[in-house]
Amino acid sequence: MAIRATQLSFFVSILLISFHPYFASTTRNALQRGSSMSVEGGGSDLLTSPDNSFSCGFYPVGTNAYCFSIWFTDTKDKTVVWMANRDHPVNGQRSRVSFRRDGVMVLTDLDGSIVWSTNASSATDADTAQLLNGGNLVLKNPKGEILWQSFDYPTDTLLPAQTIDRHKKLISSKGKGSYYTGYYSFYFDNDNVLRLIYDGPEISSIYWPSRDRSVFESGRTYYNSSRIAVLDDLGSFFSSDLLNIYASDKGFGVKRRLTMDYDGNLRLYSLKKSSGSWVVSWEAISRPCDVHGLCGRNGICVFTPKHMCSCPPGHERVDPTDWSRGCRPKFTLACDQTQQLKFVELPHVDFYGNDLNYKRGMSLEDCKKWCSNECSCRGFSYKWGEAVCYIKDTLFNGYQSINFPGNAYLKLPSDYETSESAVLEGSEAMCNTNETEIITGYSHMNRSHRSRTTWLYLGCFAGAIGFIEILFIALGWWFLFRRRDTGNSVEDGYCAISSQFRKFAYSELKKETKNFTEELGRGGSAIVYKGVLEDDRVVAVKKLGDVIHGEGEFWAEVSTIGRINHMNLVRMWGFCSEKNHRLLVYELLEHGSLDKHLFSKFSSGNGSSNVEVGVLGWKERYKIALGAAKGLAYLHHECLEWVIHCDVKPENILLDSDFEPKIADFGLAKLTQRGGSGSEFTHIRGTKGYMAPEWAMNLPITAKVDVYSFGIVLMEIVKGIRLSSLVVEQGEEEEVPVAWFVKMIKKKIVSKDDSWIDHIIDPRLDGRFVKKQAVRMMEIALSCIEEERSKRPSMDSVVQGLQEVEEIEKNNAK
Ligand SMILES: *[C@@H]1O[C@H](CO)[C@@H](O)[C@H](O)[C@H]1NC(C)=O
Ligand SMILES: *[C@@H]1O[C@H](CO)[C@@H](O)[C@H](O)[C@H]1NC(C)=O
Ligand SMILES: *[C@@H]1O[C@H](CO)[C@@H](O)[C@H](O)[C@H]1NC(C)=O
Ligand SMILES: *[C@@H]1O[C@H](CO)[C@@H](O)[C@H](O)[C@H]1NC(C)=O
Repeated sequence: MAIRATQLSFFVSILLISFHPYFASTTRNALQRGSSMSVEGGGSDLLTSPDNSFSCGFYPVGTNAYCFSIWFTDTKDKTVVWMANRDHPVNGQRSRVSFRRDGVMVLTDLDGSIVWSTNASSATDADTAQLLNGGNLVLKNPKGEILWQSFDYPTDTLLPAQTIDRHKKLISSKGKGSYYTGYYSFYFDNDNVLRLIYDGPEISSIYWPSRDRSVFESGRTYYNSSRIAVLDDLGSFFSSDLLNIYASDKGFGVKRRLTMDYDGNLRLYSLKKSSGSWVVSWEAISRPCDVHGLCGRNGICVFTPKHMCSCPPGHERVDPTDWSRGCRPKFTLACDQTQQLKFVELPHVDFYGNDLNYKRGMSLEDCKKWCSNECSCRGFSYKWGEAVCYIKDTLFNGYQSINFPGNAYLKLPSDYETSESAVLEGSEAMCNTNETEIITGYSHMNRSHRSRTTWLYLGCFAGAIGFIEILFIALGWWFLFRRRDTGNSVEDGYCAISSQFRKFAYSELKKETKNFTEELGRGGSAIVYKGVLEDDRVVAVKKLGDVIHGEGEFWAEVSTIGRINHMNLVRMWGFCSEKNHRLLVYELLEHGSLDKHLFSKFSSGNGSSNVEVGVLGWKERYKIALGAAKGLAYLHHECLEWVIHCDVKPENILLDSDFEPKIADFGLAKLTQRGGSGSEFTHIRGTKGYMAPEWAMNLPITAKVDVYSFGIVLMEIVKGIRLSSLVVEQGEEEEVPVAWFVKMIKKKIVSKDDSWIDHIIDPRLDGRFVKKQAVRMMEIALSCIEEERSKRPSMDSVVQGLQEVEEIEKNNAK
């Protein structure tokens, strides 16, 4: 009987759909005062933007649960950009959005209760509701003035032309496939800086921009209190705190969205038209473990090489389906002097924040004693070097990173059986977690109520079934199935979407490179070919010669590189690893490598009149220097691990159509040789003329080798000539050209004015350059090539040094 009732109700709802007054109006652009949209209309009772890119209506968020939403019409998963009632879904029957005669739009549930309204609470003279092409739902009065707009009430997504200000924030959803308000926000903080915060039930914690650096070091400022930011049509995001974001595919004609994702990362997405799926064109956090709150109390985020959560020894998961609930201890710590305590070491682990206290210059033993004597101390982080001891009463935001110069120590009863030092194993890739939070719904309406309604409607429509009805039934089936499909595929394949990176088949690449015919260049142990992917992306396919890694290892390394995304780094789209073929697929940049522009057709001697097309102007040179420095700084400091390039040279700095530089070939140092974990390399890598002295001296290799090579490149950018090919003046032939050049500059630099630069600058520039910038570049270059590597600056400070003279040109122009 129950089954019969359900089936009946199903057919009846089809009847309802077919008789619904709005059934036919599939493309409505405006709603007039006094009309409404109903949930039963399902996929048909919609408001669409004139260009049909956005739709507005009832969006299924669970079984019999709907939210009044705006979504992208054509994307594969009907991506939602706005929701009116994300925390209060309404029933799948008799819920409606009415544009009332008093000019207020209200969403009512099955029982008529108001769930949401365009709170112009008092009556307004609004008479038209319209969904604009940009995805903004607006209420207008007869004069065309906008009285209310959805852009003022964002949920988790910002669209182009939508502003974020002191009153608006983007708040993530709770989890994969969920639409409820979650714990991560993107917002203007009280000090005018845009931040990301985890605001969970137990703690709240800001994690971006990183607290390890000052606001200014992160390129931001407190000093502009206008607190406004906007995403434009080109894919650039500008904020009053100087946060500037650029989509990696910057340009017009691409649909984009900036979304505060449920995993705590803020991402800029671009729509790939051909497949209707989203690709990430920028993201705030490159190391997922930097997001706070992910693994809950006592949990530790580890990176092996995916990011995963792990419970420390003596702990178990609180909720096997939800990592954010963290881990609980399986022991009890009595707070008295009688209990014997011990500490278990968690190598390279830090628990961020929640310090009870800290002390510098403390030995590890003293730190242990301190924590033992503090009743509320649960453990501590200990930093080597400065010997800092941070004792903690709460262990939150735990992460393991090779970059963390210290360990965490966990307090346990001494009779609790554990090893002295813990090996943390991620238990489960967070990206692939079992989809636990499927909204099962919400249903005001219990079965008895539902069947009553059914019979009521059945009475009304009895006898109205005819041939046409059967046709409608078929249509209804179709609609229902379509809706169901959309509901399930929402957020499907999130992992795949969050990076375009993928594995290619050898046969595929063979076809796309026309059987490896168009060679772009070769070097070392690799040959680069041009290829065109199925979606018309032009790519560079790099065929690696000597295969030294097994497939698994290769996959792990390469996917680490593939995750790195910065506007000054060449993007890797994918790889191929089959039998003994190892290939890498990169984006192809229009202007090729820097050396071609810098050293092209340079006639040595006094070629001052030899300004040909193709000679790089000063503006471009400065831009290339700064961009390349930013790319390297990102690799050294912000990325997954320290990525040392080891082969910085003009050939590895590629230029896009705007002469924006992108560093190529990073991450390969690790890939193309064995041994040497982390920062120690056993084999020499690099190119003569750019290699730091420590390569020859058999010293451990650090990021400072890249700083050295960058210094040489910087000089070459100013001088316009390859330094290693400089002709050494007579009488000094025994010196290497670089050393001789440096000596020569240092002699000239003694004069206090900046005239020395005129003797060094590329004569092809014909004097058209910004002196202050050139001088700064040479000064930085000289410090970069110090023999003593500890005297060389970090890439971060190189960027800063260059940025200080960024505006000079503009100021001079005024
Ligand atoms: C709507 O307006 C009324 C009165 O101005 C106010 O009390 C209420 O909190 C508002 N509701 C929302 C959701 O802003
Ligand atoms: C503050 O930021 C706004 C928006 O970016 C900008 O228009 C304004 O000029 C800035 N004010 C100052 C004093 O820099
Ligand atoms: C997800 O969880 C359910 C129930 O716990 C289990 O039956 C199913 O196999 C899991 N699926 C995956 C992919 O782990
Ligand atoms: C079902 O609905 C009826 C009428 O609305 C109500 O009296 C009853 O308590 C409900 N039953 C459940 C289990 O919610």
